[in-house]
Amino acid sequence: MNTDLKTIQDIILKAAAAAKEETASEPEPERPKKAKWPISCTVGPGLEGAIACESKVGYVNGAKGWLVYRGYDIFQLAAHSTYEEVAYLLIYGKMPRADELNIFKEKLFNYTRMNSVVRHLMTFPVERMSIMGALRLGVNLMRTEYSDLDMKTALPTSFDAISADEDTIDMETQPHVSKHATYEFKTKSRKSNQKSGREFDRTGGLETSAHLIAGLSCVAAAVSRIHKDMLPLEPKPALSHAANLIYMITGRIPTPIEERVMDISLILHADHGMNASTFATMVVASTLADMYFSIGAGISALSGPLHGGANEEVIRTLRKLASPQTVAPWVDKQLSQKGKISGFGHRVYKAYDPRARILGPLAALIIRQKPELQELYATAQELEKVAMSRFGSEKKIFPNVDFYSGLVYASLGFDDELFTPMFAASRVAGWSARVIEYMEHNRIFRPRGLYIGEFNKTYVPIEKRRHS
Ligand code: CMC
Repeated sequence: MNTDLKTIQDIILKAAAAAKEETASEPEPERPKKAKWPISCTVGPGLEGAIACESKVGYVNGAKGWLVYRGYDIFQLAAHSTYEEVAYLLIYGKMPRADELNIFKEKLFNYTRMNSVVRHLMTFPVERMSIMGALRLGVNLMRTEYSDLDMKTALPTSFDAISADEDTIDMETQPHVSKHATYEFKTKSRKSNQKSGREFDRTGGLETSAHLIAGLSCVAAAVSRIHKDMLPLEPKPALSHAANLIYMITGRIPTPIEERVMDISLILHADHGMNASTFATMVVASTLADMYFSIGAGISALSGPLHGGANEEVIRTLRKLASPQTVAPWVDKQLSQKGKISGFGHRVYKAYDPRARILGPLAALIIRQKPELQELYATAQELEKVAMSRFGSEKKIFPNVDFYSGLVYASLGFDDELFTPMFAASRVAGWSARVIEYMEHNRIFRPRGLYIGEFNKTYVPIEKRRHS
């Protein structure tokens, strides 16, 4: 192995050992059991704690700082695997044999050559759109271009649709699971979905996943070039998915270190439990809307600053701070005003995010070759030190994946506007895997809202209304 690549592997294995040591006192999780539905769980605001489904795709343990894809620890995958292999693992549910991986890579490469979609895209004002916005549009164009889903004959009929209109259930005003709701839950057997003749086409789903994985990279790269008044580039057959992504964005064949760092970043972002964008994707899929529409919902959810958008926010903060000296007063002011510091905290992790544990030292490694980014990296290190000291150990707030990913992308030569799209270009594998899995036993998602409003108000004609 090339010594640079060996250094990267050593960094990851060292991070894995540190993670294991630091969380050794946390108890090992119990082996998961199959759930017996309906299930009891305590639910907090934002559905915190709610269990929405069973899954074999991936697992996050916030106390141990574990991230697992299909049984494989993220540190192992980052140290030894590639994005193509990990994407296959997630969506097919097993590690590929060499021949299967080659076929999958060829499929991804062929789908990445989306000349007609890119041509169509260029007829829209993408130069004025954010890349996340252009990705939403690109997914729609891919849908029309490669499927018959927009043709009238392909629309589901009302006869086909699963009768799941849960608005008929008297749930909204009952704060606790009502007998009626439980009864409905038990009697609606999963088999009845299948009888309706609308079984999910798994083979088609796997193919669409490959199309979307390739397509999101291609569209993000093409639009980023259009934003710089450059023409989109076609991928090169000799390059890996990660190397092609860098090439299609920058026009430069990456060094082995850059390629590997990109590959690892794609691996780290590929899946992460029932996060907001994955849930959004699954909610749309559960209505039997197709995968393109579902992934479009995932892209939308990911764009927000509390989710994927945080990596752009982090780099903006670092640029604003500009040097380590300005960090402490800024953190104090921010916290005294109850402001958040982007790139810190996580709904699930109450230990150091394993992805940040890998991306931090990788950013340090790659930035050694980029003198122009070294002050920014030093600022980030100071921000981590100061913020952690101010949060204190009892709050268990640590840097998350978004804290260092922006620095990694900046060192690869990507503009800030590409950071969240890169997250999407990777996470699309997890979104797809979870949709394919969920559709095998689909049930439309329908939580309740607790109505705390009034009843029996009298309608007053507009001319007689007096508002305070
Ligand atoms: N800066 C300052 N305080 C924080 C932060 C932060 N980044 N994160 C959490 N806290 C505090 C928060 O103020 C609250 O304190 P108190 O109990 O005194 O009111 C406590 O920690 C709990 O925070 P929360 O917002 O209720 O936690 P949550 O689980 O609802 O939110 C989060 C998780 C990720 C939205 C939040 O930590 C946050 O807004 N972080 C900054 C944005 C960010 O980095 N997002 C990326 C998340 S990781 C990648 C991804 O999923 O896309």
